[in-house]
Amino acid sequence: MRDYLLIYVNGRRYQVSGAQGFQSLSDFLRYDLGLVGTKVVCAEGDCGSCTVLVGRIGLPNSEGDSKLNYQSINSCIQYLYQLDCAHIITVEALKNKEQIHPIQQAMVDAMGSQCGYCTPGFVMSLAAMQEKEEVMTRKSVQDGLTGNLCRCTGYEQIIDAALNLDAKPVPSVTENFDEKTILSDFAVYLTQAVFCEFEENWNGVARKLKYFVPVSLAEAVSFQQKNDNVTVVAGGTDISVQINKERIEPDCIMSLVHLSELKSIFVDEQFVTVGARVSWSELGKFCQKNLPQLAEIIAIFASPQIKNCGTLAGNIANASPIADSLPFLYVIEAEVELTSPDGVRWLEINQFYQGYKKLAMNPDELITSIRWQMQDPDDLLKLYKVSKRKDLDISTFTAGIYIKMNNNKIQISRLAYGGVGPVVLRLPETEQFLYNKALTLETFLQAGKIAREEIQPISDVRSSADYRLQLAENILMKFYYECCKHQVKKA
Ligand SMILES: Cc1cc2nc3c(=O)[nH]c(=O)nc-3n(C[C@H](O)[C@H](O)[C@H](O)COP(=O)(O)OP(=O)(O)OC[C@H]3O[C@@H](n4cnc5c(N)ncnc54)[C@H](O)[C@@H]3O)c2cc1C
Ligand code: FES
Ligand code: FES
Repeated sequence: MRDYLLIYVNGRRYQVSGAQGFQSLSDFLRYDLGLVGTKVVCAEGDCGSCTVLVGRIGLPNSEGDSKLNYQSINSCIQYLYQLDCAHIITVEALKNKEQIHPIQQAMVDAMGSQCGYCTPGFVMSLAAMQEKEEVMTRKSVQDGLTGNLCRCTGYEQIIDAALNLDAKPVPSVTENFDEKTILSDFAVYLTQAVFCEFEENWNGVARKLKYFVPVSLAEAVSFQQKNDNVTVVAGGTDISVQINKERIEPDCIMSLVHLSELKSIFVDEQFVTVGARVSWSELGKFCQKNLPQLAEIIAIFASPQIKNCGTLAGNIANASPIADSLPFLYVIEAEVELTSPDGVRWLEINQFYQGYKKLAMNPDELITSIRWQMQDPDDLLKLYKVSKRKDLDISTFTAGIYIKMNNNKIQISRLAYGGVGPVVLRLPETEQFLYNKALTLETFLQAGKIAREEIQPISDVRSSADYRLQLAENILMKFYYECCKHQVKKA
């Protein structure tokens, strides 16, 4: 067991312990290391000005060699206890000798910067795209920069800068570092858990804090059993925002970052099983081929920086009634795997929420995976997210609609709406009404009227209750026009 975190920044090795590990990466970079090229504006993952690259050991290739995979992250909502055995690259490390990096030069040439406050973040997001060898098209650049906001230049010049990059080869940002040394260092330390305990003085009151980074599920489960009030951190994209905004002050953190047992997606004849440490980016990639309906939702979920860290398990445990994964999980009747020192149990998602943010999960349980049954390709499934902005916005209303047909009649229907109550709701009366009906416009018009009666949404900053009621009705017509009209013609 170690009592310090091992972190590389721009090729330099740091051992971090005690209170130093309990701070955001952006604070560490700016205040401890003086790397002030990384800017902080919102401190909640929304603006991207704090974007840096994080490199972690990936799975070995066919020759058994591993390399560091680099991704963009928001450094304001990644805490150091999440970054053990990671290599951080900041904007300061891009230039080669006195030569600025081609991405920076492209921004200069296209006049992609005015006050410049957002610029390092844009440059690092483009660097992340280059590392993934993404082809720069207008669409890919717009998607890749979803998590970066600029309030003075506008976006056209920045997009021009990115598109101009394809004309010349861009060196990898990792070329300036001795990756072999970093990799062999990580390979040794990744086998050791980290535990740090320290005392902090808060307005004259002493507080004991601790963080634990286990390297196996057994260690994680045992730590949770032996300690009270453990705050579990997966991607940290919900929890770190709450810490930054001082809504919570956790004093015992357990970071799941090294639990490689939970990093896989398994597919067998019956189930798709997604480990609790699988990121949204990894799930999105899987769904593009295997589950396009969920891939569409993931495409408009948050930003690349958030998706590179956040997890499906975190989305479920955070228990927001507008969490974008839930309508899908409800209509597919997914199951959540809960692991505790007593063993493993599976709980159907429709029984997982007992009220607003109240989970049917014991304090000593961890979500270890989520699974759902493979669907018949003829089944109809459609997922909806309604928000004021298309990208990087919180949902106003979400819906999942699933239908199985038999002899041109609806045999099974499942409907789940989010944003219309304290938890995501199934609509049993509407589902009952749809049973044995034909796929006609009249069926869905009537179903919409019943669905409206089954919910009691409230008005809030995102929309009025009336708007949500209208959506509850209209979404069924949208479903008919998108999925059923076509089906009827086929039949
Ligand atoms: C800028 C921004 C944009 C966002 N956009 C969206 C969006 O479009 N749609 C959406 O639905 N959400 C969005 N979110 C919310 C968030 O990104 C998601 O909910 C994400 O899936 C959370 O996953 P995480 O791994 O980061 O969770 P964490 O922050 O690590 O944890 C969230 C909660 O889950 C608990 N937890 C995590 N893992 C486990 C586990 N294995 N077992 C038990 N408990 C666990 C934690 O203790 C915590 O209570 C956004 C957040 C930000 C900051
Ligand atoms: S400061 Fe805005 S995303 Fe980090
Ligand atoms: S150049 Fe000023 S915020 Fe983007």
